[in-house]
Amino acid sequence: MNRLFHILAFCLAFPAVAGDMPPPLQDADFLEVDPAKAKIGQLLFYDKILSGNRNIACGTCHHHDLAGGDGLSLGIGEGGAGLGPKRLPQTDTTRIIKRIPRNAPALWNLGARDIAVLFHDGRLEISDLYGNGFNSPAEEWLPQGLDNIVAAQALFPLTARFEMAGDPGENQVSGAVIDRIDYAWPILAKRVRVIPEYGEMFVDAFDNIETCEDVTIVEIANALSAFIASEWRNHDSAFDRYLAGDTEALSAEADRGRALFYGKAACASCHSGPLLSDQKFHAIALPAFGPGKTRRFDPQPRDVGRMAESDLLSDAYRFRTPMLRNVALTGPYGHNGAYPTLEGILRHHLAPLDALDKWTRDQARLPKADWLAFVDFAVQSDHREMARHRRAVDITPVDLSDAEISDLVAFLHALTGETALTRPLGRPSSVPSGLPVD
Ligand code: HEC
Ligand code: HEC
Repeated sequence: MNRLFHILAFCLAFPAVAGDMPPPLQDADFLEVDPAKAKIGQLLFYDKILSGNRNIACGTCHHHDLAGGDGLSLGIGEGGAGLGPKRLPQTDTTRIIKRIPRNAPALWNLGARDIAVLFHDGRLEISDLYGNGFNSPAEEWLPQGLDNIVAAQALFPLTARFEMAGDPGENQVSGAVIDRIDYAWPILAKRVRVIPEYGEMFVDAFDNIETCEDVTIVEIANALSAFIASEWRNHDSAFDRYLAGDTEALSAEADRGRALFYGKAACASCHSGPLLSDQKFHAIALPAFGPGKTRRFDPQPRDVGRMAESDLLSDAYRFRTPMLRNVALTGPYGHNGAYPTLEGILRHHLAPLDALDKWTRDQARLPKADWLAFVDFAVQSDHREMARHRRAVDITPVDLSDAEISDLVAFLHALTGETALTRPLGRPSSVPSGLPVD
């Protein structure tokens, strides 16, 4: 009765605005997850057995203590040591030779059925192009049988040299990747299935697995996706309660921010729909730095975003619109983590070119590595690249007062789930391989 009243009051109070608000997220909007598979996924997510040199796990860069990210602008992949802001790039002969070129995103709500594209540049998407369900960097070599796009995604960090595979010649996995991307996956699958504890769990959880010999990288990826989809699902924020009809859920400040978000500030023109992302690509000219997404024919330390995938000039410097639930927990922000605060990234949206001029290098959260300093900001000395970067801005500047900006920041805080920090499974204290857990 009370709830009905709220819904009624909601409709009456916001006849015009309510139409622009997305519907609340429901159970039916998410993939169903088998808890037994999610449990295997939890262990694998933190098990360094999946990295070429057995020295890094998914959880190292997407950690529970850091809300599913690593708290850095650009992280340190295999070869580093430690976690999050304390992660060190090493200093002796094993020192890393490159930072990870993009920010490690938190993995909130990727189990939503509507997710059609992943990575900052969308280089993985649901598609019939190769007959295996996905358009991905593995093209026709992606295996059949992956449950969903998150399972497909899980295969790529495994083969990435600087993330998990390691340098050529260091281990069998990195060697195999050089020959052909799909040669690496059976090596990793074998490492996992010969550990009796994993073998038994797979036999119990997967109908198609009779003996541990049957376990392939596909089941490993499906287990990882079951874990990610259930573990990082969270939509019980004040805003979610508001969408479900509780007109009192937002503070006065956050409610003014909501009105701006869906009105004058036009945030919802890109951060639209129930997931607060149109899953499309836009250029907002974040300050460029880091080693960039270099390609064989484009060795400059720069990141052209979506263009590297689509080959369309019009896509230069465009990146995917991020979803925003729990965003207050997941800084630094943007594809390269250019801004450590919500207010910073927000002010950048409102006046991108001014913000570019005012940005200072100390805002980048980069673990200290003197031998990488020459490349960290090299792109900023490339005047032609910087001019192209400034010309490609898809966002219209909006004039907001300081009070309005603080209302919008309050709204972004109202997207934090009440239970965001209490996850169903959490980080395991040990994993079946016996390797140390970060
Ligand atoms: C070295 C750090 C690192 C490790 C290890 C790592 N990731 Fe990531 N992850 C990243 C970065 C950086 C990106 C963004 C890359 C891009 O968009 O170009 C990313 C992107 C993702 C995404 C896509 C998110 C989105 O919104 O598009 C998922 C899902 C993901 N990782 C899961 C995993 C899984 C599963 C593993 C282990 C198999 C893993 N990651 C290992 C750093 C890491
Ligand atoms: C033209 C489309 C567009 C509009 C309008 C827009 N955004 Fe964004 N927003 C983006 C894109 C694209 C990114 C990621 C940019 C990148 O990584 O280079 C982003 C990033 C963000 C981030 C960082 C999220 C993260 O996880 O790193 C926040 C917060 C954000 N936007 C809030 C807002 C707010 C608040 C408004 C309204 C003032 C707004 N956006 C308007 C496209 C837009």
